Amino acid sequence: MADRTLLDPFPIGWYWVDFSKNLGKNQLRGKKWMGNEVVYWRDRDGRVCMAKATCPHLGAKLSPNMGGKLHDGCLVCPYHGYTYDATGSCVRTRHGPPNEHVQLSTFSTVETGGVLIAFWHPEGQKPDWTPPSMDGPEWSEFTFYKDVIAAHPQEACENGVDLAHLPHVHGYREVTQIGEPQIEGPMLQTRFKLVRRVGLPRFIGLNLNVDAIVTLWGLGMSTIEPSMDYAGVYIRQLAMMSPIDEKRTSFVMGLQLKKIGKPNALVPGLGLLPASLLRHWMRSLFFKIYRHDISQDYVIWENKDFLKYPRLDSADSSIMRFRRFSQQFYPNPQF
Ligand code: FES
Ligand SMILES: [Fe+2]
Repeated sequence: MADRTLLDPFPIGWYWVDFSKNLGKNQLRGKKWMGNEVVYWRDRDGRVCMAKATCPHLGAKLSPNMGGKLHDGCLVCPYHGYTYDATGSCVRTRHGPPNEHVQLSTFSTVETGGVLIAFWHPEGQKPDWTPPSMDGPEWSEFTFYKDVIAAHPQEACENGVDLAHLPHVHGYREVTQIGEPQIEGPMLQTRFKLVRRVGLPRFIGLNLNVDAIVTLWGLGMSTIEPSMDYAGVYIRQLAMMSPIDEKRTSFVMGLQLKKIGKPNALVPGLGLLPASLLRHWMRSLFFKIYRHDISQDYVIWENKDFLKYPRLDSADSSIMRFRRFSQQFYPNPQF
């Protein structure tokens, strides 16, 4: 288990909650998220509400496994029947009229690319920035996979700017950083080039010459955009780290891609396949590579210590830049 005692386990930011397909209309769900029991539901008009699972009347739990239920798209408390709409307002009490002083403690949410994401702030402050939109007709649907790991989101993000580990852990070749990481408020972006071999080393294989842009959106989510211009391949990978409690973090990987522009430049003859089949097949292949490569990091993240004073070398300038950037997501200085 990593030494997480130095870092606040729940930094401010946007964090994955669920996949949109798991939340149909008039459906209520509950889970542990950022150390809190939360409920979330979609009403009949498609509006989503996410709130702490505690009824403000007298403290009963509102989760579906504790008796919370939806009625006409509103959440009904199992204790005295106070009823809340998708804005979190109490719209009915046991006496009938709404109680205007009663309001659920809600979280701001965004749904994009098939995921539901919510904003966490320990004092309940509302966000002044939003995560990127991942919809768009040029993109395929995402393929997703979720793991639960024992690692702090900051460690996973730090890995994204740590180019020195790419040859060592992942076997990438000719890794070259392009410029310094750029920081704009809660966003940090790094660009680099690399060669990733696909297939059997020293036998049949393919060298992919990849340009990649890694963008951190806070510490809870990052996008990785590998592209191979020469073959018209544009991929968007999602990495979302969502703490469940002080020890466990949901790690969600997603991958979508655009239509393959010049498939014959990847492998001669590939362009003979129907475009939709080719895109489906390439999405599975690239996702398999992505999952494989990320899982190589798990054992390091889960067991490493967080060093407040790391002994860095000249290849690590991005690490300190990242650490200064990450301070903004903690209410108190962490390191
Ligand atoms: S505790 Fe929820 S209605 Fe009373
Ligand atoms: Fe890595």
